[in-house]
Amino acid sequence: MSTTELPDIGISSGIERAAARGAGAGDGDGEWWRGAAIYQVYPRSFADANGDGTGDLAGVRAHLPYLHDLGIDAIWFTPWYPSPMADGGYDVADYRSIDPMFGALSEAEDLIQEALALGIHSIIDVVPNHVSSSHTWFQAALAAGPGSPERERFWFRDGVGENADEPPNHWESEFGGRAWSRVVRPDGVPEQWYLHLFAPGQPDLNWDHPDVRREHEEILRFWFDRGVAGIRIDSAALLAKDAALPEVTEAHDPGSHPYVDRDELQGIYRSWRRIAESYGADRVLIGEIWLPDADRFARYLRPDVLHSAFNFDFLTAPWEAGKLRQSIETTLDVHARVGASPTWVLSNHDVTRPVTRYGREDSGFAFDAKRFGVPTDLQVGRRRARAAALLAMALPGAYYLYQGEELGLPEVEDIPVDRIQDPMHIRSGGVDPGRDGCRVPMPWSGDQPPYGFSPGPVDTWLPQPDDWSALTADAQSADPASILSLYRDALLIRRTHPDLGSGSFSWLASSPGVLAFRRGASFGSITNFGSTPAELPDHDQIWLASAPLEGGRLPADATVWLRLSSD
Ligand code: GLC
Repeated sequence: MSTTELPDIGISSGIERAAARGAGAGDGDGEWWRGAAIYQVYPRSFADANGDGTGDLAGVRAHLPYLHDLGIDAIWFTPWYPSPMADGGYDVADYRSIDPMFGALSEAEDLIQEALALGIHSIIDVVPNHVSSSHTWFQAALAAGPGSPERERFWFRDGVGENADEPPNHWESEFGGRAWSRVVRPDGVPEQWYLHLFAPGQPDLNWDHPDVRREHEEILRFWFDRGVAGIRIDSAALLAKDAALPEVTEAHDPGSHPYVDRDELQGIYRSWRRIAESYGADRVLIGEIWLPDADRFARYLRPDVLHSAFNFDFLTAPWEAGKLRQSIETTLDVHARVGASPTWVLSNHDVTRPVTRYGREDSGFAFDAKRFGVPTDLQVGRRRARAAALLAMALPGAYYLYQGEELGLPEVEDIPVDRIQDPMHIRSGGVDPGRDGCRVPMPWSGDQPPYGFSPGPVDTWLPQPDDWSALTADAQSADPASILSLYRDALLIRRTHPDLGSGSFSWLASSPGVLAFRRGASFGSITNFGSTPAELPDHDQIWLASAPLEGGRLPADATVWLRLSSD
């Protein structure tokens, strides 16, 4: 079937589509997030209404109809707070306000309400591991000097060695280089060192300090009071530190690494859970938890800890049937054990765009493997990205999509080096291209930059490629074969088909290189990872396909959704 035909599940006209969406928000039992489609907005790059080349909240408000039409249940906003932008806003100077480049707090409040009126929930990003070095607490700590109570909220330590010019330990920054910087007094005299697991502009907080706990609990209430439905918790497994600051070795017992996944975190998140629940079952806490150990990961998803966490195992898996099957099985098993709802994620603002990654020989993702100039076949990548989206959207749980994924944007790999802003690039000594390639401003319309991102000609904060005119939302809206049309159709089916959502899951027998599963009574999803067309199981209807079928068979790198015959 071509992607122009809508499946016969009782929803076909635009009006019915809209009604289906409105009814879905809330999902009756309040736990709307369990099966939601959640769209990540990176405000700096989504849409610019005031014409300064940087996205803003007015731009998001103007595009709410687009998001509504796409068929999402919620928006996750990456940090929108005042920030010096040492790390794209993940260096927060004030958690209760909006950066003037994006707008004002009143606009955020209006945006939350306007989205809700369209049945779209809002999720905000809270960054508890660190603050910006321009945050009042850190400035007060610098001013108050060594030994002061103000410094107790952070990790200030004297240096070691004769001149104290060596850091207290050898911990490394997640962005490369050492995790310590030395304070230099205004008169030029060097004094203590402070810990930053990320950039120097992001000093780590001391979560043993009662002020730090109290402050974050108040921040959660501040935003829940304004109607946000969820909190995405940044770097959620890193907050707690061993106060003795021991060296990192190979041999830490689970839960006792000096700063990753320490057991104390569970207590912190239990108290957050109580706060969220005091507002109702429709509030959700979502952890950014990168952990290789599935059992340790599951501890965060016990019924009294976090509700949900991003599935990075699935996101980083290469385009291989075996690896993805294993990831799906582990995910379903881990979540079932604790009664949590899985998430399925293909991209976000930190990782290489799927159409570029899936076109590479090594199609997995790893931060430390990012390099300039790795070849990719975008045609292959595009086919696979379409197939991957249908595969992921048919699985039980929530689906996260990152702005531009629905347009099939590639990673921009030729940003001039002097325009790159991501600290990962600089701190890697220029080896790692950084994450700006997936953060390039969205193309909305027109033939040339800024492609409707800004109202008039302007140099956008990151340059856009010259060859994106066919990728704009406008161009794709008019094309039933576009990836945007595929996403719209798939999201519609996903939220209206009775077998999806909470329907059961079981594998179907399939040949090697094919992943096939049944959802509920009759929904089948088949993905062909092989190089030759695959036979389909008995079916009496095709709902949607990521590529045209070939003589009734499923071509390479494609997914089809169908109604399985009842034997
Ligand atoms: C998370 C964010 C990333 C940020 C880091 C430090 O991993 O997703 O963008 O750089 O935390 O806050």
